Amino acid sequence: MAGRWRNDLNWSDVTPEHVYLNRRQLMAGAGALALAGAAGPARAADDMEPNTWEEITRYCNFYEFGTRKEDPWHNAGQMTIDPWAVEIDGMVDRPGTYDLADILKGVSIEERIYRLRCVEAWSMVVPWQGFELADLLTRVGVQPGAKYVGFETLYRPEEMPGQRARILDWPYVEGLRLDEAMHPLTIMATGLYDKPLPNQNGAPLRLVVPWKYGFKSIKSIVRITLTDREPATSWNKAAPNEYGFYANVNPNVDHPRWSQASERRIGGGIFSPRQPTLMFNGYGDQVADLYAGMDLAKFF
Ligand code: MTE
Repeated sequence: MAGRWRNDLNWSDVTPEHVYLNRRQLMAGAGALALAGAAGPARAADDMEPNTWEEITRYCNFYEFGTRKEDPWHNAGQMTIDPWAVEIDGMVDRPGTYDLADILKGVSIEERIYRLRCVEAWSMVVPWQGFELADLLTRVGVQPGAKYVGFETLYRPEEMPGQRARILDWPYVEGLRLDEAMHPLTIMATGLYDKPLPNQNGAPLRLVVPWKYGFKSIKSIVRITLTDREPATSWNKAAPNEYGFYANVNPNVDHPRWSQASERRIGGGIFSPRQPTLMFNGYGDQVADLYAGMDLAKFF
């Protein structure tokens, strides 16, 4: 890939549809009106309008705070996020417990507007702020034998009611292959809509890997481990035939219990049509190379 990450979504691309249609009507007169009418209210296959703050912060998956979508919005306020430290260990030159403030001093925060596709077949578009995970890993010094990166969420049952039940084997853990972790699209998010990341979205630090199903994007990270072995991952441990390690968004490989060919964009309303799911969630031109020669149905 040439150079650094290329932003394929900008605020200028995300003009709300009604504004866009009005502009077209004004410019082209009655002809465009007919055209807009014919196009109807159907969403484009790849509609990049960011979801609202409300949608992103109230419709969440964060099982540490309950399994219903609004549970994290209700309950995550209990989580103490200051002070916060991240233990970085395993095959690194400079292992240690790093204060979040120190981590943030060495990185540059950028905006990344990404699609988020949950394995449950709903999706959103989220305007994150964050930094490239590669920058942090480079700073701590990845040793030559390292092949994978493991991540761990905070384990604090007294503040996380979901951890007092055996919904999953706590703490929530996730992992990436090292080349996936070093990819410029992979970020550690610290904010959204230019505000600090709300607790329910994984404050103060969560992974975002936009070409993978949302469960890979582990929240409220307290540990990062460089290793030469594929790390265990929470959903794979819970149901290995349903959730693989790779979990790349793939419309051609169905979940055993539902189709992955299409998705429901949150906020579209109950009458809005489902939209087709894109291979690698639309980031294939940037990530398909990582999987050259791999059978994506086998390594799902
Ligand atoms: N991280 C932790 N620690 N616990 C979780 O339950 N849910 C995952 C992921 N990260 C989850 C998690 C799932 S299934 C999805 S789809 C995304 O977070 C949802 O992110 P959002 O709530 O910010 O949209």
